[in-house]
Amino acid sequence: MVNDTAMERAKLTKTAVIDTRTLENSHKRLAELLKPGMTVLDVGCGTGAITSGIAELVGPNARVVGVDNNPILIEKARQTYKDLPGLSFEIADIYNLPFYGEFDIVTSARVLQWLSKPKDALNQMIQSTKENGRVLVLDYNHTKISWEPEIPETMKSFYKAFLQWRSDAGMDNEIADHLQHIFKDAGLTNIKITQQNENTKQDDHDFHDHITIWANVAQIKGKQMMEDGAITEDKLEQSQRDFSEWIKGCAKSQTMYLLAIEGTVNRELN
Ligand SMILES: C[S@@+](CC[C@H](N)C(=O)[O-])C[C@H]1O[C@@H](n2cnc3c(N)ncnc32)[C@H](O)[C@@H]1O
Repeated sequence: MVNDTAMERAKLTKTAVIDTRTLENSHKRLAELLKPGMTVLDVGCGTGAITSGIAELVGPNARVVGVDNNPILIEKARQTYKDLPGLSFEIADIYNLPFYGEFDIVTSARVLQWLSKPKDALNQMIQSTKENGRVLVLDYNHTKISWEPEIPETMKSFYKAFLQWRSDAGMDNEIADHLQHIFKDAGLTNIKITQQNENTKQDDHDFHDHITIWANVAQIKGKQMMEDGAITEDKLEQSQRDFSEWIKGCAKSQTMYLLAIEGTVNRELN
C-alpha cells in the first residue's frame, strides 16, 4: 500500500461537486462504449453518481463494481444506490485492487491526476480487466484551463500555488496529455483518445455550479495548503474575495481540458 503525501492531499472532504455528476454529462466516452450485460469496474467512484448510471445502462443482469479508498464515500454510495440491481461498492485502493481478469471495462475518472504513481495504478486496472477488455481513463491537463474573461491576478496566484502544491506531492498536472505514452508503455493496444473538455457558459442553466468549482477548491483545499506553507491566509482570502466578485460581475465561461484515453488488454502480446 502506498502511503504518501499525494494520498493526504487527494483526500476528498466535500462531495457536492462529484454528487451532481452523471454518466451522460461527465463520462461521455464511457456511455458510448457500454452495452447491456457488460461487467464494469469504476475505480475511484466517490459517492457512486457516475457508477449508478453505468449500472442503469448495462442492466440488472450485469455486474458493476465501484471502488474507492475512502470508506465514508463508499458507505454513502451503498446507502444511496442500495436498490440498483447488479451494482455493488467496495473499499479498495487503486494501488492494490482485488480483481483478476474480471471486467469488460475498467475505468477511472478524474483519479489518476491525484496520484504520485499513476503507472502502478494503471497496471492494477489492467490486471482487473478481461483479455481483450478495455481500460478507460478520463483526466485533466490542469495547465490548459481557460477562462473568459481572464480571472483576477490573485486567483491566478492561488491556482498556480495549487498546481505547485500538487506537483510537490508528485502529482502530474498535465496527466491527460501523458496518458497516451503511459498506456503504450503498459502494453495496451488500439489506443484511442477522445476530447471531453468541460465547458461552461453564462447562458447554461447550471453555470453557477460549474463556474464556482475553483472557489470550492480554494475553500476545501485552502486550509491544507496553508498548513503546508503553500499559501498565506491573507493571499488565500484575497483570492477568494476577488474571484467571488469576478463570478458576480463578469464571468462568461470556463473550459477545463479533459481527455478520455482507452486501450485494449492483450496479455498474449506482452
Ligand atoms: C475527483 S474524485 C472523482 C470521483 C468520480 N470518479 C468522478 O469522476 O466524479 C477522485 C476520487 O478518487 C478517489 N481516490 C483517490 N485516491 C484513491 C486511491 N488511491 N484508491 C482509490 N480511490 C482513490 C477519491 O476518494 C475520490 O473519490
